[in-house]
Order: sequence, then C-alpha cells, then structure tokens
Amino acid sequence: MSQRYLRRFTDSRSAADRRTAEAGAAQHGARGQRRRWSAWTLALAVLIAGCATSGKPQSALDPAGPVAASEDALWDLVFWIAVVVFVIVQGLILLAVFRYRDRGSGDIPRQVAGNTRLEVFWTIVPAVILIAIAIPTVRTIFEVARDPGDQALDVRVVGKQYWWEFEYLGDEGQGVVTANQLHIPTDRPIALDMQSLSATQPDPGMDEDPQVGQPVSDGVIHSFWVPRLAGKQDVVPGHTRRMMIQADEPGTYPGQCAEFCGLSHARMRFQVIAHEPAEFEQWLTEQAQPAAAASGGLAAEGQELFQSQQCITCHAIDGYEAAGGAAAEVRIGPSLTHFASRTTFAGGIFDVDDPEQLAAWLRDPQAVKPGAQMPNLGLSPEQVEALSAYLYSLE
Ligand code: CUA
Repeated sequence: MSQRYLRRFTDSRSAADRRTAEAGAAQHGARGQRRRWSAWTLALAVLIAGCATSGKPQSALDPAGPVAASEDALWDLVFWIAVVVFVIVQGLILLAVFRYRDRGSGDIPRQVAGNTRLEVFWTIVPAVILIAIAIPTVRTIFEVARDPGDQALDVRVVGKQYWWEFEYLGDEGQGVVTANQLHIPTDRPIALDMQSLSATQPDPGMDEDPQVGQPVSDGVIHSFWVPRLAGKQDVVPGHTRRMMIQADEPGTYPGQCAEFCGLSHARMRFQVIAHEPAEFEQWLTEQAQPAAAASGGLAAEGQELFQSQQCITCHAIDGYEAAGGAAAEVRIGPSLTHFASRTTFAGGIFDVDDPEQLAAWLRDPQAVKPGAQMPNLGLSPEQVEALSAYLYSLE
C-alpha cells in the first residue's frame, strides 16, 4: 500500500481506524515480501538446476559426433546473435524508461509522428540479421542431409508401440535384427531408414496388412531422438525417412521417442551403443548366430511354454524350432534371438539383469507398461520362472 494512498485513506478516518490500517499495511507488506523472496528462490533453484556441468547424457549442447556437432555449431551462432539483439533492444528500452521518465514537471513531451530514416534502419537491420542466420542454416541442412552412400552402415529403424526395432541391412548386416539397443561402430556414418509400422504388421518388408490386405499406414508418428548424436527425426507411417548419425567415441548414448505416440510414449526409450569398429564387427557376427536350443531343465520347459503360450506368434527367435517344426519368425514384438545379450527390454525401460523386473513384465505387461501390445497371458509363477530361464539362456 503506497504512502500516498495510506495518507488519503487515513485522513478521513478516526485515530483508531488509522492505527488498524497501518498495522494491516505493515503485515501485508511483510507477507508480500516473504512471497517475493520465495518466488525468487524458486526461480533461482530452477535456473541453477539447468546449469549442471556433468551427468548430461541427453544434452544436445554436448555433441558426441559430427552430425550433432554441426547442429550445435549452428545453435551457438544463432544463440549469440540473439544475445546481442536482446542486449541492444532491452538496453534501449531501459535507456528510454529511465532517461525520459516523468520527473513530475507536468510538461507534455514533444510529439513525433514517423521517422523515415529510423524506419528504414529498423527494417534493414533485421533483414540483414535474418539473412546472416539463413545462410549457415541452409548450409547445415544440406550438410546434415548429405548421404555418404556406400560408406555408411545401413540400418532400418522401425518405430512400433512402444519400442524400436533395428535391422542391419545388406550383406554386411547379416540379417541381424535387434530391439531398443542400436549398436554402431565409431567414426562411421550410420544411415537410418526409418519407418513406423502398425502392431499387426509382422515384417517391415511387407507392404500390406496381412489381416485386411490394405496398404499399411496405420502406425503412429514417433520421433527418433538421440540428443548427443543428432537432432530429432519424425518417423511417419507410409513414408521412409532417412537420417544420419555418427559417434566419435565408444559409449552409450540414451535416446527417446520425442513425439507423443500413445499411452506409453514416455516409456519408449532406447540406447545407441557405439563400439570400436573391430568390436562392433565381433558383436554383429555374434548376433548373426542363431539361438541355441535350450539344453534341458527349466530353460527347456520355458522353451516349450514359448510355443504353447503364443509367444511364438509375435516374437522371432532365429534358429528356434519347436517340436512340431514350427519356427519363430514373426516380428510383431521384438526379436528375442539374443535377448540376454541386451541390457534393457520393453522399450529400453527395464533392466534385463533384474529378474524381478522381467518376472513383473511377464506376469502382467500392462501393469508395468500401460498400452503395450503384449497381452497379459495369465502365466502362473512357475511358468514365469520357466520362461525367464529360457529368455536368460538366449545369449
Ligand atoms: Cu513413440 Cu512417442
């Protein structure tokens, strides 16, 4: 409450009223000040939280490869131009506010209408700034989109609900299919051919929905984003989108779906794992091996359940052959050929190494990942144990 208002307010009232009003104003002021301090403290905490210097596995400002680095360089340029513009504009506003403020003389300032020189100036300057930003922007767009051709490792990326499938293409790829963990060699461009498929489409090579015979386009839009390796790329049903990623150093680079795609969008994570080239070759060769049949015990029991509980109707396991000669080939769910060689499952959100998490998933997938395509098969604890044993044998 301002002093002037307080004076006017109290003049017309008795001394008792005045005392009450003053006490109220003081109390009011103290409360307002406390609230202001709380707001400032909160704002400062939020600001400081954004300033972490380490542990930023998903910071686009900490690029780990040439694609991300060129995007980051463009961002830096635009950021500093914006900082200069901000400082100049805000500085002029503050100058005008303080220098030409009403000093109580009551004079009306000189009235001005139009200033051709100024108007030309503030039209040309922003145009020049926009051109200065457009040139490196267009150059970066072309740079990032440049296709290295044969030099690249080709991988098909398929967005499903809610997980990613990775298929290594060409002779070099040896037909390896995996899920949620994209292994790549360092210092080599990786060309990703990205598609989004519906749950009913078993194989990316198939153009028609096997159930209705219609062209498949009923997947949903996902967005593939590994912040330290490249910008986001939307994956759109009915289209194949191509993007490049590349990592300079071996390591694990977390990524996530960046486009709302349904109930478990937030649980659609993945990791890009970069290896030295020789190590990558070794990994690929191991992944190309068919799964070994369970040699007995609980794992063999689990292998039988794999067929009798319909797991086989959705999950491929290369080399699997059931008693009746049935093969597990369908890729509605992730290929499980080398399940135990992965460290995460179900959209990169659970640890393979944690038997409790695997058991919870097998018991009731919907309870731990709402909206997932895997149904609750109503497995008994013994069946869960046997299936776990089988999955852990798939190294
Ligand atoms: Cu897939 Cu969000």
